[in-house]
Amino acid sequence: MRLVIIGPPGAGKGTQAQYLVETFGLAHVATGDLFRAAISQGTPLGQEAKKYLDAGQLVPDAVTVSMVRERLREPDCQRGFLLDGFPRTVPQAEALQAMLAENGAALDAVLNIDVPEEKLVARLTGRRVCRRCGANYHLVYNPPRVAGVCDRCGGELYQRSDDTEETVRRRRQVYREQTAPLLAYYRQQGLLREVDGDQSVQEVGRAVLRALGRQ
Ligand code: AP5
Ligand code: MG
Ligand code: ZN
Repeated sequence: MRLVIIGPPGAGKGTQAQYLVETFGLAHVATGDLFRAAISQGTPLGQEAKKYLDAGQLVPDAVTVSMVRERLREPDCQRGFLLDGFPRTVPQAEALQAMLAENGAALDAVLNIDVPEEKLVARLTGRRVCRRCGANYHLVYNPPRVAGVCDRCGGELYQRSDDTEETVRRRRQVYREQTAPLLAYYRQQGLLREVDGDQSVQEVGRAVLRALGRQ
């Protein structure tokens, strides 16, 4: 299965991705996570990407597409993958389509997790992320069993540096201007599956399975 999950910042892409990849045995390819890993390792890619993430702007398409191309060549992606946070522009979507077509492959579905704007700031400012495995938590909506510690791996939880109110606003504007047009692109291809993201984590999870025809 080859899936894409789209939604505004804080919609719950990473949270739902976590369950989906476990359920279907898919590789989780999250471009934001890949950039953050490169930044913390201090690689040239990380140095380039850092200024964009800090500003809440998109990393240039050429850089992002070549990173994804390499990642999708890895063995774990051969049995299927879930792209989380990519594509985010129409040119990225076209590049993805071309890249898959080279191997006679195509996407199976694109999930759009929709959440009203006014809910997103609270989701993001209360988010905590595992430093070791990347799992997402929320201080109120999805708390870990022990404060500050990841349920899954025992790693330390931290707050993302782009989860400040000002950067969240910028990220949302970038989403509206550059990513929202992708919805029409995928709708036209008959791939778009709409999911109401304004429900509990478990309810959204069930809606995702229904949207995929798996429940
Ligand atoms: P990225 O890391 O992808 O950030 P994002 O798109 O802004 O999305 P988030 O990860 O913030 O939100 P999410 O939807 O995953 O929500 P989550 O599940 O964590 O990208 C970061 C940056 O990298 C970009 O700004 C850009 O600079 C760069 N970048 C990445 N991809 C790129 C690309 N393709 N091209 C160019 N640049 C790129 O949930 C949020 C919170 O809500 C959590 O606390 C969670 O516990 C809680 N929550 C989740 N579901 C629910 C629910 N149903 N009810 C209540 N709370 C919930
Ligand atoms: Mg995420
Ligand atoms: Zn963890």
